[in-house]
Amino acid sequence: MNKKITIVGAGNVGTTTAQLIAEKNLADVVLIDVLEGIPQGKALDIQQACPLWHSSARVTGTNNYADTANSDIVVITAGLARKPGMSRDDLLHANAKIIKHVAENIARTSPESIVIMVTNPMDAMTQLVQQTVNFPYGRVIGMGGILDSARMRTFIAMESGVSPDDVQAVVLGGHGDLMVPLPRLTTVKGKCITEILPESVIEKIIERTRHGGAEIVKLLKTGSAYYAPAASVVEMIEAISGLKNEPLSCSVYLNGEYGVKGVYSGVPVRLSSKGAEEIIELELTEDERQAFIKSAEAVRELVRKIGD
Ligand code: LAC
Repeated sequence: MNKKITIVGAGNVGTTTAQLIAEKNLADVVLIDVLEGIPQGKALDIQQACPLWHSSARVTGTNNYADTANSDIVVITAGLARKPGMSRDDLLHANAKIIKHVAENIARTSPESIVIMVTNPMDAMTQLVQQTVNFPYGRVIGMGGILDSARMRTFIAMESGVSPDDVQAVVLGGHGDLMVPLPRLTTVKGKCITEILPESVIEKIIERTRHGGAEIVKLLKTGSAYYAPAASVVEMIEAISGLKNEPLSCSVYLNGEYGVKGVYSGVPVRLSSKGAEEIIELELTEDERQAFIKSAEAVRELVRKIGD
């Protein structure tokens, strides 16, 4: 039997994720949204592409959580996207309300699922979901670091004229303006970028990575990025499905790792069918550690503000 993946939110990130899952024949997909007709129509369109992709995935749309029951994985993309000039954190209160409602429904209908959180401000929303569904921490994971490092790899490849495939980048911390790109651990064909690119260029790449989402929001004017976010979610689904094994930077609950306790933040983790299986603790310099703690503490403050 195919795996069942529910995607909450039939907006751009949700539908692009559904498309990629179906195209890669990774699982059956249920797309759910409050808007009547939209998830059904989008799902039917994707379903009709499946013969052309040689995919046997079943793709359905619904407005009813009963149809999502017993999903293996639930991806939450519902909520508002940023408008130009907004930070991810500005969405806190509006999205917290939506996400709490979504999480209550997931807890009821898919109690054994692994939840992948996408909605911003992502790390705080991931923690809110975990608190609401009360699943083991490892079964509620946020998508951020994969996207941020894909952006950093893109900018490095553009600057150095290589394929992004030759670039490895590490970005830790929350998926917000205080994220922590680590040039010391970022390489082109195995060589550290600090040996290849001038410091001023690396600084520019770091800034562009930090504001990679806002750059796209500004260009689009309505809505935010979705191709790279959806591809990042699929990377996590493939790792959970055992198709990939390398550590991925995801938002997970820290219990003392990296000197941080009781809050979600982005660190390298190994994913499996159980969810976040193992947190990998990289050796950080004192400056990097301080930047990481600052970013994680900003998430803690956002989580605290949800109740205000
Ligand atoms: C971005 C949004 C999805 O970074 O957070 O584009």
